[in-house]
Amino acid sequence: MAYGRLSLVGACAAGLLLSSTAAFAQGEVEVLHWWTSGGEAKAVGELKDAYEAQGGTWVDSPIAGGGGDAAMTALRARVVAGDPPTAVQLKGPGIQEWAEQGVLADVSDVASEENWDDKLPAVLADIMKYDGEYVAAPVNIHRVDWLWANPEVLAKVDAEMPTTWDEFNAVADKLQEAGITPLAHGGQPWQDATLFEVVALGVGGPDFYRKALVELDQDALTSDTMVAVFDQLRKLRGYVDPNFSGREWNLATQMVMNGEAGFQIMGDWAKGEFLAAGQVPGEDFLCAAAPGDGFILNSDSIAFFKVRDEEQQKGEKVLASLIMSPDFQESFNLAKGSIPANENVPMDDFDHCAQTSKEDLEAAIESDSLVPSMAHEMAVPRSVRGEFLDVVTNFFNSDMSSEDAVQTLATSIDRARL
Ligand code: BGC
Repeated sequence: MAYGRLSLVGACAAGLLLSSTAAFAQGEVEVLHWWTSGGEAKAVGELKDAYEAQGGTWVDSPIAGGGGDAAMTALRARVVAGDPPTAVQLKGPGIQEWAEQGVLADVSDVASEENWDDKLPAVLADIMKYDGEYVAAPVNIHRVDWLWANPEVLAKVDAEMPTTWDEFNAVADKLQEAGITPLAHGGQPWQDATLFEVVALGVGGPDFYRKALVELDQDALTSDTMVAVFDQLRKLRGYVDPNFSGREWNLATQMVMNGEAGFQIMGDWAKGEFLAAGQVPGEDFLCAAAPGDGFILNSDSIAFFKVRDEEQQKGEKVLASLIMSPDFQESFNLAKGSIPANENVPMDDFDHCAQTSKEDLEAAIESDSLVPSMAHEMAVPRSVRGEFLDVVTNFFNSDMSSEDAVQTLATSIDRARL
């Protein structure tokens, strides 16, 4: 009996030893991210669970704040203090900016062993590399130019999902007359900039968008088309409720869910919120590409920082491999609202919004109408993005004329790019 108990204790101790060895077998990662809303937390939970299931130790560092501005401030402080997190949610030129400072770790050995070049669209592979070496791994492809709607609310005014901005304005007018907030919106600079870029693509088309928001061409920035973009933005401002200031984007999504508002213009992370609340696409909520041609690309990736700890170095490689695995790409994106970055992942289990996104992405690559998101840090350096955000937010929160906004924008961008 005593022997039996002892051996049980021994077995438990051995078990503990085994599990703690296993916990370190796949290293340790501290992951800094801003995935804190319902849908986002569910999605990042998939990554945490998958990493822990492989025996790794996950240290979570969430920094709340949609769009990631607060997270980027926290990251800067950590790197300056010489204590970077192991892995960080990072985007576009931001990856290149950090890599230039020599603080990112190379995971090219994992990437070449697993042929990442053959699994990613070229446009994404290029963003993940610095000097030809992979320093980040993409988790998804988000589309920014989406329109979300509550079908019951639309039915109240006998309206369908609009396909042009004029139609959108007409439905919004009807909703307003019926005492319903047409557009759920959160007044934060990155959300204002999200509206702005969706309208810029919708009103101006992909060539105009690229010239103005990516190449920062002065002719495009000062054009009549840009005046028309601000005119439509002014219209949208009139469709927002009085309490929009400072509201988080997921609370705006809730307004559509509970019928307080008709529409939200937001990237497909909003779908993650609808899904997390148990809503069914096509029944409880509608999705459609925002009016106009093209596709605004936003892709989240995890960038790896140079760390001294060997367990963390090991953890980076395990995480890099895990991120690109088809199983993870599927489960993460089913929760996040986006589509897989790894092109080899079958889309069978995804809903019709995601299927549309995938088809439109392929068509946009084919017709050269894929454009990178300015608001979501895929297009221009942070300093230039900051100028766009300032002008757009000032316009949105004042009675500035479209002509004045265009002049201010062109001057600010010219100054920022020096
Ligand atoms: C990110 C998404 C995130 C959204 C709201 C975007 O910039 O790419 O992953 O869900 O911000 O926080």
